[in-house]
Amino acid sequence: MKSIRIGMMGLGTVGGGVAAMLSENGVLIDKKAGSGIILEKILVKDIAKERSDVPQNIRAILTDNPADILDDPNIDIVIEVMGGTKEALEFVRTALRNKKHVVTANKDMMAAYGGDLFAEADRSGSALLFEASVCAAIPVVDVLKHSLAGNRISRIMGILNGTTNYILTMMSGEKSEYSQALEKAMDGGYAESDPADDVMGRDAARKIAILASIAFNMRIKYEDVFTEGITGVSLCDIEYAAELGYRIKLIADAKFSDEGVEARVNPLFIPTGHPLSNVDGVFNAVYIESDMAGETMLYGKGAGAKPTASAVLGDVIALARAIGGGGAVFTGCTCFNEKMIVAPENAVSRFYIRMNVKDSPGVLSKIAGVLGDHGVSIYSVVQKKAQGQSAEIVIITHMVMEKNMLDSIAKIKGMDIVNEFGSLIRVEGED
Ligand code: NAP
Ligand code: HSE
Repeated sequence: MKSIRIGMMGLGTVGGGVAAMLSENGVLIDKKAGSGIILEKILVKDIAKERSDVPQNIRAILTDNPADILDDPNIDIVIEVMGGTKEALEFVRTALRNKKHVVTANKDMMAAYGGDLFAEADRSGSALLFEASVCAAIPVVDVLKHSLAGNRISRIMGILNGTTNYILTMMSGEKSEYSQALEKAMDGGYAESDPADDVMGRDAARKIAILASIAFNMRIKYEDVFTEGITGVSLCDIEYAAELGYRIKLIADAKFSDEGVEARVNPLFIPTGHPLSNVDGVFNAVYIESDMAGETMLYGKGAGAKPTASAVLGDVIALARAIGGGGAVFTGCTCFNEKMIVAPENAVSRFYIRMNVKDSPGVLSKIAGVLGDHGVSIYSVVQKKAQGQSAEIVIITHMVMEKNMLDSIAKIKGMDIVNEFGSLIRVEGED
């Protein structure tokens, strides 16, 4: 049996998962790959770090010198699971230049530099595979690149961040406050090293940039994605959502139309009948609308050592089969369309509005007047008695251009009848 030699960069959560999976499922993996998969060297940052939980055979192949992998002609595949966009980018570029195939889990790098790296891979005739970079165990990159390749995809939306989905699930099910739920999510080990990347929506934005680029065949970058996190979502909004027949989820959403691509991450009211509304905890899901296949939904574990290792080794096995079979050509960059991005202010949506107002005659009509002046049509209104002389108003609008919505809210916030403006959250679905 031929041997395929691997150099792995990183032995943290994901790298540790890859090493463990190779040890646990090694025989099965070799049979499926048609080659012996040999972990030859592992690059770490701090070679002196205490690693008593790491098996001796793995400790024996650690190095802190990237050249031990990048310049070793016997290494066929580099697995990059160290993260970051500085050294990782440099090492991946060099690996491709040195005609090594690369498997990466690095969404930050792929969202920012995917185009450059594909060009490098093309020049050197190497493959660059990145299934693990989006939603870990969910095989969404493969589905978009291969299984649905003959479709025109019009929309790809999903719950792409486990940490925020866990927080929103805890707030909705256990009535936890946001800060408590975040603490528990961090204990679970799913959060980014800076959890602001999760809660501010940046992690999901990187993932939807990668998925939208494949789905719409145009390079969508992280900066093209309008991003809003979950820090403004309160328990009270979650309770109103439930009363009105919705759940609030952090949704990454990209739509393709004649006007261009609209890509965004924001909290969204999802009707309880929508398949994404029941995706709870740290689970991820991706929902795809396409012209031939119709609606497709993929569901699974989007983070963690084993689920991410599963995706990394799926790519390694595909590469090993190709190398063993004489070097099948891998699908490289599939971006052939010109990029047109719809400005967020021109996007249309329905909205949920919550505010605390003075409980006196004419208040509702004044608010309705401002909305009407800006072309915002009201779908439903709920008014509840709040404390003292105040009332809480909850409005759901019909479809409206975001710019008109924001202009009307700016005006409403300045009105003396408004005690406190609560929330403005988009609502899924058309009129
Ligand atoms: P991690 O636990 O922080 O591990 C990082 C590893 O890389 C460590 O072994 C570290 O060495 C090594 N490293 C970091 N910088 C290095 C450098 N400059 N030179 C050499 N080695 C370096 O990270 P992780 O959670 O495994 O994530 C790795 C990648 O997978 C990231 O791109 C992440 O976005 C992606 N990802 C993670 C998950 C997840 O659930 N964790 C899921 C999907 C994708 P030391 O051991 O010496 O510190
Ligand atoms: N922080 C990410 C999440 C990890 O919570 O989904 C996987 O990218």
